This record gives sequence, C-alpha cells and structure tokens, in this order.
Amino acid sequence: MIRFLIAIIVLQWCFCLFLLQSNEGNNTERSRPAWNGVAALLFLRRPKWYYKRYNVLVDNALANIPLDWGLQIFYEREFLSEVLQFHRGLERRLQQHPRVVLTELPPSLSHLKPNRVWKDSWVWKNAVADRVLTINGDGVLCSNSQKTWSDLEGIDYIGIPWNHGEGGDGSTHSLQNRTVVLTAMNSPYWHQLGERRFDTRLVQMIRRLNEEGSQYRLATTEETEWFGPAKHQLMAENGTLIRNTGFGPLVVTGTLFDWSYEARNWVIGTCPELKAIFPSLHDPACFGARPDPSHCAASLGLPPCQESITTTI
Ligand SMILES: *[C@@H]1O[C@H](CO)[C@@H](O)[C@H](O)[C@H]1NC(C)=O
Ligand SMILES: *[C@@H]1O[C@H](CO)[C@@H](O)[C@H](O)[C@H]1NC(C)=O
Ligand SMILES: *[C@@H]1O[C@H](CO)[C@@H](O)[C@H](O)[C@H]1NC(C)=O
Repeated sequence: MIRFLIAIIVLQWCFCLFLLQSNEGNNTERSRPAWNGVAALLFLRRPKWYYKRYNVLVDNALANIPLDWGLQIFYEREFLSEVLQFHRGLERRLQQHPRVVLTELPPSLSHLKPNRVWKDSWVWKNAVADRVLTINGDGVLCSNSQKTWSDLEGIDYIGIPWNHGEGGDGSTHSLQNRTVVLTAMNSPYWHQLGERRFDTRLVQMIRRLNEEGSQYRLATTEETEWFGPAKHQLMAENGTLIRNTGFGPLVVTGTLFDWSYEARNWVIGTCPELKAIFPSLHDPACFGARPDPSHCAASLGLPPCQESITTTI
C-alpha cells in the first residue's frame, strides 16, 4: 500500500515537472501542453462580495479535476486590473500556476451576462480541450465524490439532476463535448431556439440531431445523479433523512434551501468545501464550544431568539 502511494506521488511529481517544462511560465494557451479536459470559468465584473469566492473556486477546481486537465479562465480585461490588486493570492495563482490558462474575452463578449457568453461559439472555439467542464461561483467540486471524472467519459452532455431528467441542468455546472456543442451551434435550428438558456438549447439540439441520425450521448438520469446531488438520495418522501453512505456527487451547488436540515448537513459532511463559498457565520457566538444564541442572532441582524433555536454551524 505504502509503495503504491509512493509510486502515485512520484508519478504526480513527474507529471507536474513535465507541465512546468512544457510552458516556461507563460500563461497563454499557445504555450500549453495538450489537455485531456478543461474546467472553464468566466471572470466577469460582478458584485464585490462575489469576488471573495474566487480564491476558493480556483483552488477547489485545481484540486479536484484530473491532473491532465487545465483550468481555463475567460476573463474580462477590466476584471484583472480592478479585482486582482485586492486579491493577491488569486493573482499569484493566475500568473504562476502551470495548469491555469488565461484567455481574454473579445470586447463583443466582455460586458454580457454569463449565459450569453456561453451561448456564443467564440468561447467554445477557444476552449483548450474537447471535454469542457463549465463551473461557476455558485458551487464547488466535491472532493469526497463516489465517482471520478473518467466515469463520465463518452457522455456528450451532463448537468445537475434538478428535475430535468435526461441530460440535467447546466445553469451552474455542466460537462460537455466541445465538438458536439459547436456542431449544435452550427445547425440552422440553433437560432430558432431563441432566448432559451444555453444548456436547454444544447439538450434540445442534441435530441434533434439524434433524431436525424447522430448518436450523441446525453447523460441518463442516473448518471446526472453521479454528477450532482438529488434530494431523494438523502430525503424520504416524508422528509426524514436517508443515511446514505454511498452519497457523494462530483459537484454540489446552491444553498440547498429546500433540503431538510439533516439532509443538508449530510451534504456538507460529505462535501465540506461547499461551506467555503457561501457567506458563513464568523461570530464566535455562533459556533464552537460555547455558542450563544442571542448574540449569534444579533450578529446576523435577527431579533433575539428563543431558547429552542439551536446554533450548530
Ligand atoms: C507569452 O506568449 C505570448 C504569445 O506567444 C507572447 O506574446 C508573450 O510575449 C509571452 N510572454 C512572456 C512573458 O514570455
Ligand atoms: C466529442 O465528440 C466527437 C464527435 O462525436 C468525438 O469524435 C470525440 O471523441 C468526443 N470527444 C470527447 C472528449 O468525448
Ligand atoms: C418516513 O419514511 C421512511 C421511509 O419511507 C420511514 O422509514 C419512516 O418511518 C417515516 N417516518 C415518519 C415519521 O413517518
């Protein structure tokens, strides 16, 4: 076992050295090795509080995508000048990390909302790999996942199982085949799908292309539940917790506001990194050995609370 672990560590080292040698510190995509996949992230101008997630987001992605995948950041020029001066750690990652690829958005895309950017073929043409995992600041990759990214090989589109059945919802995170996305965008039907979201259009286009004889693979509902969490994995119809030790999606997103306290706790216990991106309570009255409910409530701007309110955070 120990020997096996040492072998893995040596292999990781060799791989990192290979990556370092093959790009000599210049984060433009042309100097990159051929990636087997890429996590893609948009850095656009957003409210200031949102930027505070970025350090965690970048490190979380780098820690959980396979070693032969890159992290490609499509950025708006003003983002770099306005934001990075206040986020020095993020700046160091972007400039120095051998697996980070920085790609500046053209002016025509740089002031659009994220969904409009993904709907433009420019980003897909400029993605550095064929397997593209789109990520955003509303979720994280779960390090204790049951499946690995290689379990999803061969699937052309997969998103989160939010009542979407086959394919899944890609509004926060989705994994897709870039060639299939570009084929869909080149089809005359693509523009007929109008104002629909990128992921909705893509799923419809794949179905249509398959009806015409293509054989693209949308994830099955079961596979979407490997990718993202589904409530029924942890909650019975009556709301009680299902103690599912097999739970462990690749991605967790959102505040899980409609999950029970116990089910949400199970998600956070399995994927603790979710806690890092949401505004968290930091008043010592709210956690630790001696929580103080009244002070905690006051720190949140809430009226004084009753004895019954617990503050396990
Ligand atoms: C990085 O590569 C680009 C494109 O090849 C080149 O224009 C630029 O000067 C390089 N920068 C450094 C610091 O080597
Ligand atoms: C993407 O789809 C094309 C066309 O079906 C296929 O040739 C290619 O192998 C796929 N790429 C990945 C990474 O699955
Ligand atoms: C809720 O449902 C589960 C399984 O369906 C069952 O085992 C449990 O007893 C139910 N609990 C209540 C309070 O009805």
